Amino acid sequence: MTWNFLEIEAQIKAEAQAIGTAQDLETFRLKYLGKKGLVTAVFASLGQAAPADKAAIGKGANDLKKLVDSLMTERAGWINSVKKIDERVDISLPGTAPALGHAHLLTQTLQEITSIFERMGFVSAETPEIETEFNNFTGLNIPIDHPSRDAFDTFYLDTEDPSSRGRRLLLRSHTSPGQVRIMKAHRPPLAVIVPGRVYRPDAVDASHSFMFHQVEGLLVDEKVSFCELKGLLTEFCRRFFGPKVIMRFRPHFFPFTEPSAEVDINAEILGIQRKKWLEILGCGMVNPRVFEAAGYPKGQYKGLAFGMGVERMAMLKYGINDIRLFYENDARFLSQF
Ligand code: DAH
Repeated sequence: MTWNFLEIEAQIKAEAQAIGTAQDLETFRLKYLGKKGLVTAVFASLGQAAPADKAAIGKGANDLKKLVDSLMTERAGWINSVKKIDERVDISLPGTAPALGHAHLLTQTLQEITSIFERMGFVSAETPEIETEFNNFTGLNIPIDHPSRDAFDTFYLDTEDPSSRGRRLLLRSHTSPGQVRIMKAHRPPLAVIVPGRVYRPDAVDASHSFMFHQVEGLLVDEKVSFCELKGLLTEFCRRFFGPKVIMRFRPHFFPFTEPSAEVDINAEILGIQRKKWLEILGCGMVNPRVFEAAGYPKGQYKGLAFGMGVERMAMLKYGINDIRLFYENDARFLSQF
């Protein structure tokens, strides 16, 4: 009996590669080392071998056995390690989804306010946060030395206003200077809203911040009435707070509008108990002096204007009681909206 050791060795190696389970391993063992196994048969053939062949057959049989043993050890180790991974990680479980970001509540509120007015035909325009005294005050009928200017405490910059010697630039204290800029650049009819940041040197507490957001509105045409102002703002409040909202127009004073009013909404309807009426915005009919400062011909136009705080609107709508929550970037707060 002669054996082709090279061929047997190649066959053993190829079959060992395919061993993937403990059962495969046992089949492999029986095939080569079992009672009727091939390597067992090689050993058995030694008895009938010619004396001259014995040494070669003996060595070949021993080498084959060592090969089978070492391949079995290696495959057993591999099967074991795969089993450990299988026990540790259940790859059939769904993975952890990455957290998705979303727009900040203030951005959402600003977008909601803007889109309500856009659907009513207004266009949205942004104007600069760094302003001149003229646009922030004088052009809005707030004279430099008038006491009403105290109501609009303001951050001034060190930089001189290039358009007015000796006067400094400032951070706008409201979005109303947007009215002046728009009227200087465009002729009526116009219907514009100006959303953006405003700044006031207020001490920070639950209802004050040195920076907050406003939305300004301005509509100018040849015939505009206070009725239209009321209708517009009533419809806005219904869309923003819901159809049940109850509001009132309370007479007020603003230098840039005449007559002027503040709008309050009934807090009980919103489920806020603190007070019966909460102020949400200022409004009025554009003061003719504002048209004059913008260079519009005297007596030709009428306009309505309004301005509201975005934080305030969001606080009332969502029952938030501290303005600082908007700026702290605490995900526990932000993720609720
Ligand atoms: N600018 C005012 C403020 O910041 C709000 C305001 C009131 C704007 C009446 C207006 C208006 O356009 O007509 O308090």
